[in-house]
Amino acid sequence: MFDDKTVLTGVKPTGTPHLGNLIGAIKPVIEMGNQAEKAFIFIADLHALNAVRDSSLIQKWTYEVAATYMALGLDTDKAVLFRQSDVPEIYKLTVLLMNVTSKGLMNRSHAYKAVVADNEANGKDPDFGVNMGLFTYPVLMAADILLYNTDLVPVGRDQKQHVEMSRDIAGSLNNLYGKELLVVPEPVIQKVAAAIPGLDGRKMSKSYDNYIPIFDQPKALRKKIMKIVTDSKRPEDPKDPDESTIYLLYQHFATTEEAAAMRENFTKGGMGYGDAKKALFELIDREMAEPREKYYDLLANPQQIEDVLMAGADRAREVAQEMVARVSKAMLGRSI
Ligand code: ADP
Ligand code: TRP
Repeated sequence: MFDDKTVLTGVKPTGTPHLGNLIGAIKPVIEMGNQAEKAFIFIADLHALNAVRDSSLIQKWTYEVAATYMALGLDTDKAVLFRQSDVPEIYKLTVLLMNVTSKGLMNRSHAYKAVVADNEANGKDPDFGVNMGLFTYPVLMAADILLYNTDLVPVGRDQKQHVEMSRDIAGSLNNLYGKELLVVPEPVIQKVAAAIPGLDGRKMSKSYDNYIPIFDQPKALRKKIMKIVTDSKRPEDPKDPDESTIYLLYQHFATTEEAAAMRENFTKGGMGYGDAKKALFELIDREMAEPREKYYDLLANPQQIEDVLMAGADRAREVAQEMVARVSKAMLGRSI
């Protein structure tokens, strides 16, 4: 499906992975990683730095993200799983790219503009709370992508602009120093029909504190699921499955037959929300039991995670060193 294309994506370690992340990003990335001949998946700890000020949290979430991918079946012998900051070439390429990136391009970044708009709406200085990590975020992200001769970048819709900026930056360097230096990447936008809803019915997100962690232990998982907000329909009333957070989550874990049966229970009436929640709990508990054990085993022995990440960084560096040598030769006249 990916032929001989290089596929790359990054994941920011900014929270404990939840079911929305699982369905919208983690599952498709694992599929891609296991299919593509050349796949790079990395934990973008340097990108987390502009917002997370507690190093122990960056460490914790880095391990949680890595353990999640490993526990859910990413083949790390094939796909390269690594931590962004373990490849020092990223710093070199970022500085080189800074010089072919116009400030105007950065001014147009949605993420930066959102902060400025928020400041203006609240009567604050437009640059309040804006650090250069945020402002130059797209340059670091371009370096992430361009360092590995990436052809395809699977991302959520919110990251499309950043990938397009990587294209602009690559184009600008190629124009100045030689057409073939950098591969111009393309975004691949993951198609999730709609965002997975959280406990309160809004999009499941760590920002709303309405999420269900992927690997909650059964007791906590049951408690969270029981908290899903429902309307006041009685058990005997017919219910619209497509409007129900319970069904929307259920269908992602169920077999085709189970999903069809649950759908019918909703539409024909006769099943209360309490019973539907119980069925959802039992299903997620069943499907996640095995990876959950693996996940906690990895977190209890983080050396296992480190070993995988370090082996990944070694493989990533082989490509990265060559790229930095090539670009620095063109820009500085010698390879660094
Ligand atoms: P959060 O909203 O919890 O901060 P992120 O913005 O870190 O989540 O998202 C990481 C990835 O997970 C993105 O690719 C995003 O598209 C996906 N994702 C996050 N929440 C959901 C959701 N509720 N439904 C589907 N995909 C989601
Ligand atoms: N910016 C991405 C996010 O917030 C994470 C990321 C960093 C990334 N570098 C990347 C994604 C390179 C794709 C390619 O989700």
